[in-house]
Amino acid sequence: MQRILSGIQPTGRFHWGNYFGAIRQYIALQGQRENAFYFIANLHALTTVRSKQQLARNTFDAALDLLALGLDPNKATLFVQSDIPEVSELCWILMTATPMGLLERCHAYKDKKAKGLTADAGLFTYPVLMAADILLYDSNLVPVGEDQIQHIEVCRDVAGSFNHHFGETFIMPKPYVVQDTAKVPGLDGKDKMSKSYGNTVEVFEDLKAQKKKIMGITTDSRPMEEPKEPAGDPLFTLYSLFASKEQTQTLAETYRRGGFGYGGVKKDLAVLAENYFAEARARREELSAKPAEVRDILAAGAQTARKKAAEVLRRVKENCGV
Ligand code: ADP
Ligand code: TRP
Repeated sequence: MQRILSGIQPTGRFHWGNYFGAIRQYIALQGQRENAFYFIANLHALTTVRSKQQLARNTFDAALDLLALGLDPNKATLFVQSDIPEVSELCWILMTATPMGLLERCHAYKDKKAKGLTADAGLFTYPVLMAADILLYDSNLVPVGEDQIQHIEVCRDVAGSFNHHFGETFIMPKPYVVQDTAKVPGLDGKDKMSKSYGNTVEVFEDLKAQKKKIMGITTDSRPMEEPKEPAGDPLFTLYSLFASKEQTQTLAETYRRGGFGYGGVKKDLAVLAENYFAEARARREELSAKPAEVRDILAAGAQTARKKAAEVLRRVKENCGV
């Protein structure tokens, strides 16, 4: 049995980058409850969200969003990271097998330091907690966007180092990245849509606000008549996420021919995006009226995940002698 596992931080509402880069793969890979483990990484979010109410709200919203987008509790196990205390215990054990240099090279920490900001130990050791998340469930495959590959490399290094000291204990996980959507561009034309750049469109954003954002997507100022290359154009890339192959093909031809306005493309994109998520939007509406049901799903998920976690942690402790 292959175990698929991934986590997503409840640091705000999910955007198109999160959906196409990660969440869509979670849903495509789900099959049986025991095979697909997905969790809401609230312990990781503590490195940035410092309000009790906000963290609770975000965590619940994340569960609602994931379920509305098609995560099916009969085909996957959905849980909240902190409901499995074993993860923090494993994190400590793994820290003793993690060289400082490995963490110093990690981008989240490096970027913050480069900006002259002070980082806390939580941010510095963030990849070790992520390694614990993955190794605690004997995970084989980790669906993520491109920016998380480095963290999975760290996980493999740490697992390898532990295995070297104490004998074969951990399974080596592999990242699962879908190349076409590995990096969704932002509204400002930056190559990555990210909360930290403020260039996102949220999946369930109010439709009017969403349309306004789409109409504001940064484009170049070349004259309308001029032929344009679609590849690498952020608006074209965003359009192709929602459009059919034929629609994408047609737009590519239009770009190459020239003689079109970006405004029309943006209007079409707004309609495509609205339709694409219309069913999920309706499902979210329905689910949000049943909070107890959502909480039950998370509780059942935690129970399933915890069983596996206890088994693996027992093996780890036995192998290292604590
Ligand atoms: P953000 O950068 O907005 O804070 P996160 O780091 O919380 O997003 O990312 C959550 C998941 O979504 C990760 O698996 C990440 O790889 C994926 N992801 C985030 N932004 C993008 C993007 N622009 N393109 C593809 N995947 C993305
Ligand atoms: N660090 C990931 C992110 O920011 C979230 C995450 C935490 C994760 N633990 C994980 C992803 C384990 C995959 C596996 O997106």
